[in-house]
Amino acid sequence: MSKTHTVAVIAGDGIGPEVVREGLRVLERVAAIEGFAVKPTHYPFGAEHYLATREIFPDRAFEEVRRHDAILLGAIGDPRIEVGLLEFGIIAKMRFELDLYVNLRPVRLYAEHLCPLKDILPRDVDFVVVRENTEDAYAGMRGFFKKGTPDEVATQEIIFTRKGVERVIRYAFELARRRDKRKKLTLIDKANAVRAMDLWTRTFAEVGAEYPDIARDHQYIDAACMYVVRNPRDYDTVVTSNMFGDIFTDLSAMIQGGLGVAASGNIHPGRAGLFEPIHGSAPKYTGRNVANPIATVMAVSMMLDYLGETSASARVEQAVERLLVSKRLPSLGTDSGFGTTQIGDLVIEELAAAPAR
Ligand SMILES: NC(=O)c1ccc[n+]([C@@H]2O[C@H](COP(=O)([O-])OP(=O)(O)OC[C@H]3O[C@@H](n4cnc5c(N)ncnc54)[C@H](O)[C@@H]3O)[C@@H](O)[C@H]2O)c1
Repeated sequence: MSKTHTVAVIAGDGIGPEVVREGLRVLERVAAIEGFAVKPTHYPFGAEHYLATREIFPDRAFEEVRRHDAILLGAIGDPRIEVGLLEFGIIAKMRFELDLYVNLRPVRLYAEHLCPLKDILPRDVDFVVVRENTEDAYAGMRGFFKKGTPDEVATQEIIFTRKGVERVIRYAFELARRRDKRKKLTLIDKANAVRAMDLWTRTFAEVGAEYPDIARDHQYIDAACMYVVRNPRDYDTVVTSNMFGDIFTDLSAMIQGGLGVAASGNIHPGRAGLFEPIHGSAPKYTGRNVANPIATVMAVSMMLDYLGETSASARVEQAVERLLVSKRLPSLGTDSGFGTTQIGDLVIEELAAAPAR
């Protein structure tokens, strides 16, 4: 009997439902080709549900979601609702309460014409960023004093714990070894100014001593933003804190062709992983059938790899690669000239042709 993977699906807001629909079509098709089954369960959480019920993400639903093998998320965020309310209540709730401490962001350029930098070829852009996903300024330790007065004070604590820093650095060393490419791990921090990041410097050196086969490199975040544009070839595996990773991965996404292709996995080995495109809900494009679903399709590929369906994962990635190399899509933005569903159809066509690796 074929294996069945259970997937909790939160399509969310804005363009989320449109891109998730295509991601699920690809998932179902590749499952049929490769001979396994997928059982999706849809959850309605997001802006419409909140406006209708005032419910964000109730605990009983969260308990159900966490029992799935994986979670697929579209995007959360709606201009009608207070900034951050749903993003914190839904995305951050899963990241924190499932303790998904790794945010994994592969950065690959599939076709030269998609890179805005000149003279950069696909072989020059192939790295992965491991972003810490549970600490830093995102831990929510914040407050306002004398709010709305001329004497207002606003604080938000940046926190790093030895345990949190060590486990993500160790994950990154293991990943650099598993990738078996340049066997190099770059730590990006700002320890010269944010002195609390000395914890990262020391932990990186201590854990790194256990991985003599992996070369250690270090950059400050400001310099890294310059280097990644000037010489993306220089990276293999990168590890960084939550906030710097948030920024560095959007910059990296542009080098691979934009938010239309960039995907991420939120992972705690052994628990339900959460997979999503890195883009948001792009509210002004809602319902217009112009959002590119490839980032969600790549999130599906990452999810399949996490579920152990490595051949299906490779098949999906190869289908996307073939489509992009064919140059049928001139860009991955909303101006590609292809609709969301049409791009889904093109990926599905390529799936049948893509041989498993
Ligand atoms: N993980 C998430 O769910 C997530 C991530 C980022 C932002 N957000 C939320 O999304 C909302 C909008 O945020 P934003 O406008 O800063 O970022 P965004 O990623 O939604 O959109 C920025 C721009 O990127 C382009 N874009 C994004 N996705 C695309 C796609 N699939 N195809 C083609 N072009 C695409 C569009 O030009 C869009 O205007 C906010 O509420 C924000 O909080 C959610």
